[in-house]
Amino acid sequence: MKRVAVLISGRGSNLGALIAAQDASYRITLVISNVEGAGGLDKAREAGIATHVIPHAGKTREGFDTEMDAALRAAGAELVVLAGFMRILSDGFARGWEGRLINIHPSLLPAYKGTKVHERVIEAKEAVSGASVHFVVPELDAGPVIAQASVQVSPSDTPTTLAERILAVEHRLYPEALRLLASGKVRLENGLAVFD
Ligand code: GRF
Repeated sequence: MKRVAVLISGRGSNLGALIAAQDASYRITLVISNVEGAGGLDKAREAGIATHVIPHAGKTREGFDTEMDAALRAAGAELVVLAGFMRILSDGFARGWEGRLINIHPSLLPAYKGTKVHERVIEAKEAVSGASVHFVVPELDAGPVIAQASVQVSPSDTPTTLAERILAVEHRLYPEALRLLASGKVRLENGLAVFD
């Protein structure tokens, strides 16, 4: 049973899915938010999970990350899951948690890294998009992919409707990927995701 910390900045729908899907492989023991009023904090509290708010204003990226790192270690976190965490992490933090730090991104990586994903997917008239769970490395949205799921893009989709459909897929995909990591069925080795 791995002790998991989840980092959020917003509503925390993925956090909610991860809480609901907890099984013998992982337990969420801490939720950290850089945003005081993040809706996900209420989801954590309702589930009886410890929460910790670490505001980022007025801090350097490294200073903020050092504070987060200390909170994670103090709580005995073994895995760190980013779920709508809207801060770029320092190289030091990413390296320090390498292989134990994952993120979910609403595109079929390596396509459409970064922000405004759905707008760009629709603009490019893509037929398919989706979601990816990946190991976090210092370069943004660039780590090895653990799991992906695709959705069809319809000509009538707006960024909002596409985001909603992808989000529903994320809620299934993220717990599956976390279970793989927590039970040792996937690991990061020499920059690659290696599956048993
Ligand atoms: C999701 O679309 C996720 O892919 C992206 O941020 C969004 C977070 O949504 N990284 P939520 O806070 O989990 O509802």
